[in-house]
Amino acid sequence: YKRITVKSLIEMKQQGEKISMLTAYDYSMAKIVDAAGVDAILVGDSASNTMAGHETTLPITLDQMIYHASGVIRAVKRALVVVDLPFGSYQSDPKEALRSAIRIMKESGAHAVKLEGGEEIRESVKRILNAGIPVMGHLGLTPQSIYKFGTYTVRAREEKEAEKLMQDARMLEKLGCFALVLEKIPASLTEKVSKNLTIPTIGIGAGVHADGQVLVIHDLLGMTHEFNPRFLRRYMNLYDDMSQAIGQYVDDVKRRDFPNAQEQY
Ligand code: KIV
Ligand code: NA
Repeated sequence: YKRITVKSLIEMKQQGEKISMLTAYDYSMAKIVDAAGVDAILVGDSASNTMAGHETTLPITLDQMIYHASGVIRAVKRALVVVDLPFGSYQSDPKEALRSAIRIMKESGAHAVKLEGGEEIRESVKRILNAGIPVMGHLGLTPQSIYKFGTYTVRAREEKEAEKLMQDARMLEKLGCFALVLEKIPASLTEKVSKNLTIPTIGIGAGVHADGQVLVIHDLLGMTHEFNPRFLRRYMNLYDDMSQAIGQYVDDVKRRDFPNAQEQY
């Protein structure tokens, strides 16, 4: 495999090739995701929800993110692996942000980090980039500030918020970020931002004009079924398939059907 780098993603945008990105949080899943040809893997702080069962992304710690990222890195041969800096690991000051980013790079072997926000985190992004660590931005719906907004509804519908998002996007590109996640914003705004930037935009609930798409793997596989936003396309109903398989196993054990004569020593 030829490894995907941050440069490859920028070249893909230049060549008009859409970028595919998915989350993964562990070795086994990352192995499948990487082998299936996904360009970039996000070790998202959505692990707080999908892996730990928290209601928000806020509780997950830097140590836990590093644990998830390490497993993913051991599995991946081709994809670019980006790791979220979790809530509380970069907001208080730029030095702390850099220390957190360095820990992720050193202790997990990740290829890049992602931070939520624009102007507010400018100095932190700058410092991390100065250390030679690639940074992916994240604008629009930023789940780490959910309590500030109170809802997970579409962002930047109003002119003023849209303008701020555009400014933040330009600022992050200028600083040297290699890509930008745009979460849950109107498709028309995604189009405008994507046209205005040379770095790729990766959308989730942001429409077809993003230079790439990202989804949470559990959602794509249909392992979750309480979460039904309009933007989500399910490619499997793994919840149902797994439930059936596990139910069958329980039944087989109870009926003394498993293990059979060939399945024992
Ligand atoms: O944590 C995550 O999964 C994310 C994506 C939804 C962009 O940040
Ligand atoms: Na995230």
